[in-house]
Amino acid sequence: MHASLAALAASLQLVLCASIPTTPIHNVTLKPDSSRWPTGLHLAVDYYPSQWPEWMWESDVARMRESNISFVRVNEFDWTVLEPSEGEYNFTVLDRTIELFAKYGLKAIIGTPTATPPNWLTEKYDVDFVDRTNTTLLFGSRRHYSFSSFDYREQSQKITRKLAERYGNSSAVAGWQLDNEFGCHDTVRSYDKDAITRFRSWLQEKYTTIEEMNNVQGRVFWSSQYVSFDTVQPPFLEVYTTNEAHTLDWARFSSDMVIEFAKEQTTILRELAPSHAVMHNFMMFYTDFDHHKFAREVGIDVSTWDAYPLAGVEAVSLSDDEIIDYLRTGVPDIQAFHHALYRGVSGAGYGENHGPFGVMEMEPGVLNWNHYRVSPLEGMVRLWTHETFAASGDLVNYFRWRQVPYAQEQTLSALFLSDNTEDQGYIESQTFANEDLPVLRAENTTNAGEKQADVALVFDYTSNWVWTIEPYSGAWSPKDASYADVALKYIDLVYTFYSSLRRLGLSIDVISPDQSLEGYKMVVVPSLPIIPTAFNQALADFPGPVVFGPHTGSKTPDFAYSPGLNPSAGTVRDRLPMRVTQIETPPTYAGSGISYAGSNYSISAWEEWIECSRQNATSNATVEYTSRHRPGKPAACSENNTHYLAFNPPVDFLVSYLGDVAAEAGVEDLVGQVPGKENDLGATLRLARRGDLLWAINYGWEAQSPPTVDGDLIIGEEGDVPAAGVMVWKLK
Ligand code: GAL
Repeated sequence: MHASLAALAASLQLVLCASIPTTPIHNVTLKPDSSRWPTGLHLAVDYYPSQWPEWMWESDVARMRESNISFVRVNEFDWTVLEPSEGEYNFTVLDRTIELFAKYGLKAIIGTPTATPPNWLTEKYDVDFVDRTNTTLLFGSRRHYSFSSFDYREQSQKITRKLAERYGNSSAVAGWQLDNEFGCHDTVRSYDKDAITRFRSWLQEKYTTIEEMNNVQGRVFWSSQYVSFDTVQPPFLEVYTTNEAHTLDWARFSSDMVIEFAKEQTTILRELAPSHAVMHNFMMFYTDFDHHKFAREVGIDVSTWDAYPLAGVEAVSLSDDEIIDYLRTGVPDIQAFHHALYRGVSGAGYGENHGPFGVMEMEPGVLNWNHYRVSPLEGMVRLWTHETFAASGDLVNYFRWRQVPYAQEQTLSALFLSDNTEDQGYIESQTFANEDLPVLRAENTTNAGEKQADVALVFDYTSNWVWTIEPYSGAWSPKDASYADVALKYIDLVYTFYSSLRRLGLSIDVISPDQSLEGYKMVVVPSLPIIPTAFNQALADFPGPVVFGPHTGSKTPDFAYSPGLNPSAGTVRDRLPMRVTQIETPPTYAGSGISYAGSNYSISAWEEWIECSRQNATSNATVEYTSRHRPGKPAACSENNTHYLAFNPPVDFLVSYLGDVAAEAGVEDLVGQVPGKENDLGATLRLARRGDLLWAINYGWEAQSPPTVDGDLIIGEEGDVPAAGVMVWKLK
């Protein structure tokens, strides 16, 4: 089925540089460099030639070229094709594919195939993933490995090196994707024996003595002191709730394992493919490893994420009406949130707040892993594509070229149906490619995304771990070693804050607490239980308004209550005299509420008792509870441009409160209006700005009238933004 090796070798000379370096270069640096990634706005597609007969390959690639595709991601699941038995390599498929890309002027993004260890490997080596019930998960699907496995680390480096040696100098390769979706299918925290060995060393390095660990983790409680590091176990298979500090250590350790694993591959790629970009495809609301730390330490050049908007209705808590409205459109702010998050994650690698980013998998139709599988509303694939570029992304890669008629993903739509005829996603991608992309490219939008937003929203992985470990609600599940059915999740809180800022039409960056606050006009921190030292310092120097959500400054780094109660000692406490004395998580029927600026709002799931004073200093109570058990008590304190909201805030309230704070700070919305309730964009109309281009997009089923824009319309028609529609102006 494949071309002969001899013919290939001859043709590949065109593509591959003849002299592939065999000696290692020792001064490898993991530092990212944006010049490794081509500038401009690009479309791409996923392609799996090994799943199709060879006679289709050339016509597929030729069609990709005609379809305005620049890059093609390949290979991320093909380890068995590349190495059918240990040490026996067969690069025929990849060689031929890359040769075709070169012929048609496309470039490959090669996935290292480590998400799918072959059967010979899992049979011979000790690589298995063990879940929290101590069950070993078997070969046959994907991601069946532990990041800690000593054997797997070695094997993963070996195959990465083989590939990099072969293609590291190819001009038909643009970049490399490390593995595929690190952590997908809940695979970060493996409880295998290598993980336990490494965890013990990690703890020993952190605490030095077992007495210190017992002490810091508060193990005097329930007589849970360990006698030595050799007897320490991860927090699983225990009768009842696990020690919180230990569970947080386990989360940090497991996150470090992903980072180490990725670093090993990147080191090889930097050595052997020095001019190619290193990338990874992160996921939606995935928090089991610290992506900011990952970017800082692994040094990827481009951060990408996999956008499956129709999965959004299952990702955040929504009302029934919202679920009905967003079933076929996706949730309006989830895509933009992730664009901003990964723009910031990418920036973290560069020591900045923005870096190159894109979408590595864009949903073109029906999704195979949603509970209910429905098609997108017509127009949404084009809209989601626009939104990525509007958020300063550089790449939209559609997953995948053609629907595969067999095996696990046969129910997943692609650009083409399995009989090779066009599907709706292809038609919309081509409307974008032929009508919109040339207009955007002509506007020279390159790098325009470097502009800093007005508002920084702080997102923090450790905060999510803290919220998950002790959510103050829900039922303990020994099987999952965590709480189930909790009243409030960190992700929901973050989403509500972000969505409110978007309804206000503001420009927003999503950054980590380690990134700089300089240049922002306003900072919003949905929750930050453990305030990192660097962030405390940055806050001390930040002159503008800062709004904190509940449970901020509530824990020490070792998961204990802050001495003197929260907020903990540091800038928040210095700027804002207040104390939190009690936390409740009432259900919706408890009748809790708040009142602000003459309006009442129902609240549930999180309600702190606070005093707007500490020692002799006082602050202003800006919001009051109307809850039936404590009417008139303070629900928010404010002083020195610092605000603390002590409850789970509803979106309407936040639009009003954050609008007032922004207006007072002189922040304008994206069309130059004073932000506030009166300029609320509502549930589905959204604005985005890249350089001097302004987008209005409509996630709704009805046309929406856009705000007045001082600019020339370059995409769309004058009047309303149609349902699932887009308008773009060039600002004057
Ligand atoms: C992603 C994954 C792809 C494919 C896709 C569609 O999570 O990276 O390989 O499985 O989902 O379901």
